Amino acid sequence: MKIMSNCSQGELRKAAKALKEGHLVAFPTETVYGLGADATNEIAVSRIYSVKARPTDHPLIVHLLSINQLSIWARDIPNFASKLAGNFWPGPMTLILRKNESVKHFITGGQENVGIRIPSNTLALELLREFEKLGGTGVAAPSANRFGGVSPTTAEAVSEELENYMGPSDLILNGGQSEVGIESTIIDCTGDQPVILRPGAVTIEMVEQVAGKVVKFDLSTNSIRASGLLEKHYSPKARVILGKTAQPGDGFIALAKIKTPKGVIRLAAPKTIEEFAKVFYIGLRMADQKGISSVTVHCPENKGLAVAIRDRLNRAVLGK
Ligand code: TXA
Ligand code: MG
Repeated sequence: MKIMSNCSQGELRKAAKALKEGHLVAFPTETVYGLGADATNEIAVSRIYSVKARPTDHPLIVHLLSINQLSIWARDIPNFASKLAGNFWPGPMTLILRKNESVKHFITGGQENVGIRIPSNTLALELLREFEKLGGTGVAAPSANRFGGVSPTTAEAVSEELENYMGPSDLILNGGQSEVGIESTIIDCTGDQPVILRPGAVTIEMVEQVAGKVVKFDLSTNSIRASGLLEKHYSPKARVILGKTAQPGDGFIALAKIKTPKGVIRLAAPKTIEEFAKVFYIGLRMADQKGISSVTVHCPENKGLAVAIRDRLNRAVLGK
């Protein structure tokens, strides 16, 4: 496995060629780093599952360069989904759509729908452009972490997570720190109205403004399977504690305006909710690096982007 930094066009071409030849390429997106494979190559896709140690019935998101490629993957796209695509792509949003017949079950976890996203990161789009020039149609990419762990937001974090599992011809593209810092908003568009399966930087309010009323997701009545919806997920080794007073020796993540209690190790002090999202996986990773066993987190008020932060935190809390 090789890390490529300051990627030139020539190197991106090489990375696209590696994808086309069935190797894995981890790459930055604006949300988190993805572990990419040619979405039409069953063997390459199966390597994603083994490198991540992820159960094979969990579907993967297919990343596209442009909306022109959408009809290769999806059909019967409802009007509200087209509006969402037009407004928020490229960007931190994944749409679950009815799959085209040609889309294989090794991508969809055996389901009849497919997750699609056009990322807004320049390096990711350049990689997708070079991949398209070679005849590629889509890159399957889950977050580049081991199953159940914290998503990486830097190339170093990808390497830390996966270097023991990636192969000698696999690559990691270094594009610096992911801008958003938490995974995309996932919206199920297979019914009459949008259903948010995973909150993200495209907030519920933003979806409602463009696509009308959002239906509340109900895990007990929805047949959709998604690992990010498991109660236990996004967990560091450290125990995550929400909202309680931090004890001496604990790690601590809170907005900068909240003072660090005595004897507590400050892991992040973001000034805004956006900055909170951007640094909080880095803070959780830092806790594990420092061997801290508990991290207390004070999450900002539960609206807008903070809904997504709280969603991940709740799952991280249940992870222990
Ligand atoms: O921001 C993101 O979405 C990142 C970057 C790399 O694009 N990707 C990501 O992928 O978070 P992953 O696999 O770690 O999480 C995607 C979630 C998983 O829980 C997966 O099961 C679900 O989306 N998913 C993917 N395709 C689906 C489908 N067809 N139906 C239902 N859930 C799906
Ligand atoms: Mg993930």
